[in-house]
Amino acid sequence: MSETAKITLQGQSYEFPVVTGTENEKAIDISKLRDQTGYITLDTGFKNTGATASQITFLDGEQGILKYRGYKIEELAEKSSFLEVAYLLIYGDLPTKDGLDKFQKRINKHTVIHEDMKKFFDAFPYTAHPMGQLASLVSSLSAFSPESFNTDASKEDNDLVVIKLLAKMPTIVSWIYKGALGRPFIYPKSKNDYITNFMHMTFGKVTEDVEFDPVVLDALDKLLILHADHEQNCSTSTVRIVGSSGANLYASISAGISALWGPSHGGANQAVIEMLEHIKNDGGDTEKWINKAKDKNDEFRLMGFGHRVYKNFDPRAKIIKKACDNVLEKLGINDPVLEIAKKLEEAALHDPYFVERKLYPNVDFYSGIIYRALGFPTEMFTVLFALGRLPGWIAQWLELRYNQEPIGRPRQVYTGKTERNYVDLDKR
Ligand code: CMC
Repeated sequence: MSETAKITLQGQSYEFPVVTGTENEKAIDISKLRDQTGYITLDTGFKNTGATASQITFLDGEQGILKYRGYKIEELAEKSSFLEVAYLLIYGDLPTKDGLDKFQKRINKHTVIHEDMKKFFDAFPYTAHPMGQLASLVSSLSAFSPESFNTDASKEDNDLVVIKLLAKMPTIVSWIYKGALGRPFIYPKSKNDYITNFMHMTFGKVTEDVEFDPVVLDALDKLLILHADHEQNCSTSTVRIVGSSGANLYASISAGISALWGPSHGGANQAVIEMLEHIKNDGGDTEKWINKAKDKNDEFRLMGFGHRVYKNFDPRAKIIKKACDNVLEKLGINDPVLEIAKKLEEAALHDPYFVERKLYPNVDFYSGIIYRALGFPTEMFTVLFALGRLPGWIAQWLELRYNQEPIGRPRQVYTGKTERNYVDLDKR
């Protein structure tokens, strides 16, 4: 007999179906709740609300499990490449060697952005935050790709929009970096793979090919894989909800980029380094800052610690900690903020406040340290997160569109004033 959930309201019982996911996740399907009872559910922050049924990513926060399309993140990070993972997320299966080759070639055909877009880069002041630029530039891609507006587009047409976005994103990200430095833009090279092309446009030379250290390329590739999807988090839910109105892919992903910007989400990697710098400049007393984080009357939180869903450990943090150590050793970096990071990590892992609340270092604690070691300015960190998250956002947007999901429209419990009589302006 199929499982149901019973709700009793004002003495009357109602039954609702229980939905079971392929990993045995359980949900009460309350889609008919309001029709049948007149009630809605209240779940601020959507901590217990499933917004969709998805086949893309599974994560179990209690056990620290993350899988893309059924493949464990540990295995993907060790054995695959970011482009392979992008293909997996978007098309559902790992590519064959030939399939991957074709995917890379199709992407390489579209890496150049329209020359007119250069004017946008010129128009931003040097101080413009890279995330604001990225959101604007990705949205403005729609102006050069009017076919993206078609809500009835065939799968082939949608696929071209997807390829164009995947191809142009590294160019845009690199050029944001170059623009802030006032240095000339470097054009992509069609012989390069995805990561090398990005590094070439960011840290390469116009006149000659630079050989990048494989440890560096590997760390960047891993970081992008680890960030590639994370089911229905704040930015992904934003992409889906914007997409649910029929908005095009570029507009939906631009909205996701804006959502990612906040320090409670993708902005945490920037916030981590800023916090470490601040602690260093304050004298480096980590105990003082741990105590501040524990003090309920103090707003300070340890950036890079804690996670909405991982309440045991963040499996991505485990993988990236190793890559972080490799990069630092290989590049021979001796950065005083790293000492502070180590002390905070050590203290928080043993302090009962953090242990009881299951607050462990998350992926952004280490990703910021790697990006800094590679030479990226702090404000670029969240942009790099967005570069990694792109295939996940795309896969989620496509799933929503092909499943013809209805427009997202949550309800609310109104707690404002009830009816009031209008008082004329001169009598108030
Ligand atoms: N420092 C100190 N105390 C903390 C922290 C922290 N970083 N995070 C949570 N707590 C405490 C919080 O005060 C609360 O204590 P109490 O139970 O005594 O009231 C308890 O732990 C639970 O916190 P919460 O706010 O209910 O947890 P949440 O699941 O709503 O928030 C979070 C998750 C990630 C927003 C939060 O842990 C945080 O602000 N962390 C710092 C920012 C950060 O690193 N964010 C990046 C997350 S990973 C990137 C991504 O996937 O987007």
